[in-house]
Amino acid sequence: MKQIRIAAFALVFALASSAFAQDLVLRAADNQPEDYPTVQGLMFMADYIENATDGRIVMEVFPGGQLGDERSTIEQVQLGVIDVVRTSTSPVGEFYEPIGVFSLPYIFRGETHMWKVVNGAIGRELLDGLQESDLVGLAYYDSGSRNFYTTDVPIRSVADLEGLRIRTQQSQVVLDMMEALGAEPVPLAFAEVYSSLQTGVIDGAENNFPSYGPSGVRHYEVAPYFTLDGHARVPEIVMISKSTWDMLSAEDQAIVREAALASTTVQAALWDDLSGESRAAVVEAGSEIINVDPSEFQAAMTPLYEKYGPAFGDLVDRILAVE
Ligand code: GCU
Repeated sequence: MKQIRIAAFALVFALASSAFAQDLVLRAADNQPEDYPTVQGLMFMADYIENATDGRIVMEVFPGGQLGDERSTIEQVQLGVIDVVRTSTSPVGEFYEPIGVFSLPYIFRGETHMWKVVNGAIGRELLDGLQESDLVGLAYYDSGSRNFYTTDVPIRSVADLEGLRIRTQQSQVVLDMMEALGAEPVPLAFAEVYSSLQTGVIDGAENNFPSYGPSGVRHYEVAPYFTLDGHARVPEIVMISKSTWDMLSAEDQAIVREAALASTTVQAALWDDLSGESRAAVVEAGSEIINVDPSEFQAAMTPLYEKYGPAFGDLVDRILAVE
């Protein structure tokens, strides 16, 4: 009797431990705060993976830049030190040049055009191409449109940018864009922007409403002039390390890809809500929203197309041709 009880106990224990055995713990990095749509997207992805693998694969999400700034987390993903990262595609262009095409000003005619491109053949081609750089692209997230904001000098026309020190993402395309506008580019990690605005190290920066507003990194508190020039629409990207990817079975790779794709719907819904809320909140807090003629900004940035056109091969023309 005692032996039967021991055997039964051993069986239950074996079943239970196999049900909960974690074969793999993935670490995922994001530089936005915990309740931000991109982080919520990663958390959804984590739940999806855990459920679909019966807990064999668990993904821990580290928001708020805990694992490093974007440049450093991309490098760590390349090396397999971090498994998954969500970043803007701008700094990824320093690791895999073609994806920098999304950072070109006014490359997209609007939201619909951008989604057609990133969800179509070009977007997929760039996700796959990342493998050359030891990164596997899984999905794109929404990041709205980027606009300038400044501490003291309101930007009402291109001429107002002359000589202003404007923070840029760690991306050569963005840096060149600032020079084309006559501003002085100051490349900085995202986490350094708030204090740099506050202490006058820079005069301005550029981003979307959710990043600028109270649910993002709160730049509105120190830069009250927000200019609606809409110069760029740079999608976010979720990537996994090639070395982690190669360790997964084909079945688990499919689960991770599905999880990332499923999370795009969650991120997009949260994003839509937050974009309107953030705009209303910053207006309420006293930010001045400045309407400008975007065509003046667009005209000033055409030299970038001459410089980058050849570097991006036929990508620029193919993107512009997507109806
Ligand atoms: C967006 C993006 C961030 C990025 C930031 C930036 O807000 O969500 O991940 O770091 O742009 O300007 O650096």
